[in-house]
Amino acid sequence: MSPKQGEFVGSLDCGTTSTRFIVFDKYANIVAQSQREFPQYYPQPGWHEHDATEMQAMCEKVIDEAVADLEKAGWSRDSVKVIGVTNQRETAVAWSRKTGKPLCRAIVWDDSRTKNLVAHFEHKLKTTGIEVRPGTFKSGAEGIQALKELTGLPLSTYFSAIKLRWMIDHHEEVRKAHDEDDLLFGTVESWIAYNLLGGVKTGHHISEVTNASRTLLLNLKTLQWEPALLRFFGLKESILPRLVSTSEVYGTIASGSLKGVKIGGLVGDQQGALVGNKCLRQGEAKCTYGTGAFLLFCTGPDIVYSGHGLLSTVGYQAGPNAKPVYALEGAIAVAGSAVKWLRDSMGMIKSAEQINELAASVPSTAGVYFVTAFSGLLAPYWDPGATGLLIGMTSYTTPAHLARATLEANAFQTRAVIDSMKLDSKKDLQHLKVDGGMTNGEMAMDILADVGGFDVVRPEMRESTALGSALLAGSAINLHGWDITKPETLAEVNTAGSTTFAPKMSTKERDDRWKGWQRAVERSRGWEE
Ligand code: G3P
Repeated sequence: MSPKQGEFVGSLDCGTTSTRFIVFDKYANIVAQSQREFPQYYPQPGWHEHDATEMQAMCEKVIDEAVADLEKAGWSRDSVKVIGVTNQRETAVAWSRKTGKPLCRAIVWDDSRTKNLVAHFEHKLKTTGIEVRPGTFKSGAEGIQALKELTGLPLSTYFSAIKLRWMIDHHEEVRKAHDEDDLLFGTVESWIAYNLLGGVKTGHHISEVTNASRTLLLNLKTLQWEPALLRFFGLKESILPRLVSTSEVYGTIASGSLKGVKIGGLVGDQQGALVGNKCLRQGEAKCTYGTGAFLLFCTGPDIVYSGHGLLSTVGYQAGPNAKPVYALEGAIAVAGSAVKWLRDSMGMIKSAEQINELAASVPSTAGVYFVTAFSGLLAPYWDPGATGLLIGMTSYTTPAHLARATLEANAFQTRAVIDSMKLDSKKDLQHLKVDGGMTNGEMAMDILADVGGFDVVRPEMRESTALGSALLAGSAINLHGWDITKPETLAEVNTAGSTTFAPKMSTKERDDRWKGWQRAVERSRGWEE
């Protein structure tokens, strides 16, 4: 029997710990998929690396496996009309223009080795300042403000330019390649696109704007690389990829089971989830709980600069000539990774899901707080010197209390980000739309609603990150009439319902717990100098 012919979109999601490929139909039903973890390297405390070649090989493998799954279900592989790519952001990859091979391991977004380098650039900003135009410097408070206005970001170990600077300073091969104009720099979408589009043979070195907006090198207003920032970090222009929008045809896949298929979307995973949740208009927000947790609030065509520790970032750009849509973001470095730590390093649970069962076996944490600052604290605290802290333990404390405190840490950090968002947007949050692996647990959701004091809305279909990149790719070729700039064209996509978790904790208890959390955070801050 000849295979059936469909009209599907593929989405390659290269996250922090695993990569997967999902094939969606026009309603966002999953037709085929494959997922695989890839190796993580932690060579020293606070360091986190990936082998970019291994990551790429795993991407190709999941594509092949999902295509095999598709064919097993009776569909022709030609049914995949276009693919989108979505990825962990900020992770810095350095490779050679001549060979197309990585020059060192990639430094992952949550790696905090660059603390001292951040301190160096903070000092530079205050003293010499940033050369905003040749010969014109802004320093001190003006310098900090200039950096914020240019990039929407603070100086932090989190962003890619600092990681790249570290590579140039510490890896002889990278330094040499930089000097000799052989160095190609990119975030993960750039590396994946480079390889899918033919690697060294074709040399397509591109970077998409939501990812580029996390490098500290992009001018947030013009969506161009900013010479003042290159000068500030001492980087050469020759290393930079060509900037592209979030939804357009960048080229076709050069080899493998989807050879010849167009790539129509590239997007950072959190912005992908924003689109996948259809939060396309001003005022709509979502929070994704993966390795970290990331709350994005769409601010439409306006860049909103936070006065309360949030990031201003590109939400998406719907085509090469489209006006960008911006977002405010609260980035929390540790969410699912704390659960993984309980499982893999502490051996307290056998599977990630088990944390819910364990946490539910006790009515409270019995006074325990767990500040999961494994790589410092990101939003809204921005403290690279904070470290993980367990406090409030007595001989009564059991693993169940620690499990509960881990879920609460997640909820407290979400509340901290939401409080900042309320102050910045002057709007109260009625409910929070959530997705990501950690939201599968009922207990985690109840705790989030209780600690946050708002309704938590969990959609049935929670593959929003992958769906977002599929919608962007479909929109690029006008498949199914999708048009990212017209949300009504997506009305038939993902109409499955959702579950709402309402807060049950008394206001007094919530306030008391919140005060306890704030005290715990204060104690964890500045521990490492
Ligand atoms: O900014 C880092 C983020 O993109 C990582 O996402 O899903 O791997 O936690 P995730």
